[in-house]
Amino acid sequence: MTDPQTLATDTPSALARLMAGIAERHPHIAPGPVDDAPNPNEPGHPEYHRRRRADWALTRWQTATPPRYRHADATHPEVQAWADRVATDPDTAGNLLLTGTTGTGKTHQAYGALRRIAAAGPHVYEVRAITAADMYGLLRPKGSDRGAEEELRRLARVPLLLLDDLGSAKASEFTEEVTYRLVNERYNACRPTIYTSNLPARAASGGPDLTSALGERIVSRLSEDTTVVAMTGHDRRRRPAA
Ligand SMILES: Nc1ncnc2c1ncn2[C@@H]1O[C@H](COP(=O)(O)OP(=O)(O)O)[C@@H](O)[C@H]1O
Ligand SMILES: [Mg+2]
Repeated sequence: MTDPQTLATDTPSALARLMAGIAERHPHIAPGPVDDAPNPNEPGHPEYHRRRRADWALTRWQTATPPRYRHADATHPEVQAWADRVATDPDTAGNLLLTGTTGTGKTHQAYGALRRIAAAGPHVYEVRAITAADMYGLLRPKGSDRGAEEELRRLARVPLLLLDDLGSAKASEFTEEVTYRLVNERYNACRPTIYTSNLPARAASGGPDLTSALGERIVSRLSEDTTVVAMTGHDRRRRPAA
């Protein structure tokens, strides 16, 4: 039996002899370049596979996004940069905290960021979006068939989470406890999260802020490694004054 080593070293010389034979018999046939590398539209090319992942992720994004925000685009440069970091390396991207008064476009930028991550074609794309008020509802006794512990576990473990309108619900020991557990578990696991709030993280003048609404231990965790973007401008839900 021919051992594979001999065959491997023999092959090029056999091919060379064959080519030489063809050249001798058909001198007018010049060997052209052989290009069998896949192009971006063919399987095997990294760009082809990235596009397939992006299509799949964008479908998931659509499912997680309410109709009002299905055209949302992340237009804020810092939001875009954060989304790009998540797409490249979710473990080191940190969180995004969007603050600003009602109607300044926080939820729009948040869904826009999730869409931008999907469009980059990441290797993992699992996303959940929920308002803080709905989350508290879900986590109350009888709030869900799965049970509060299982719901909290799912929210804490989903690779990408949007927790919208934090600090708006009336604070209680219960809201503080579940918010702390969620923020703390995601913080420990370095899972990127988008938080939005009508309140600033810390008001300089001692006015209402996230720290007074949620407590220091929550805000210190959700603001570490966090890109804070303060949205400004008028309430987009109202027509601008003529
Ligand atoms: N950049 C934008 N381009 C177009 N429409 C926007 C933009 N930002 C916000 N909107 C629209 O303005 C309204 C208020 O935005 P939203 O993100 O819900 O505000 P917030 O979450 O800060 O209260 C929504 O109807 C949203 O679709
Ligand atoms: Mg909003």
